Amino acid sequence: MTVPASEDALVAAAGESRRNALCRYSGFAVGAAIEDEHGRIWGGCNVENSTFGLTVCAERVAIWKALSEGVRKFRAVAVVTGADSPTPPCGACRQILWQFAGDVPIVSATTAGSRKRYRLSEIFPEPFDF
Ligand code: THU
Repeated sequence: MTVPASEDALVAAAGESRRNALCRYSGFAVGAAIEDEHGRIWGGCNVENSTFGLTVCAERVAIWKALSEGVRKFRAVAVVTGADSPTPPCGACRQILWQFAGDVPIVSATTAGSRKRYRLSEIFPEPFDF
């Protein structure tokens, strides 16, 4: 049975995951949630490291959790931050999302309630893909 999660449920899950962010260096907490083909929601937060380059974004944590449990098809992504306006996934996350989730709809939300919606292909045109 496939049960699509609502956008509100996906944003709420991303907001919950954001509470676990390990962001002592940037102070910028991010939560992400990705919905799989069955409507299951996989959450993630950013995990920073003292060697800054090893930091992993919330979006990648979320999708790696799902991939590592055998999930291969995805329907939607949500990202939540405390920024003034919604922020899209970074370039590296766009590449990873493209490879494993394809042209998914993405909703970026702020904790204050603003939302912005896009498809991945809008913000990641001409992807590297082979
Ligand atoms: N970050 C994410 O988790 N997702 C994004 O889409 C952008 C940036 C994290 C990485 C780092 O821990 C902090 O936000 C500041 O860049």
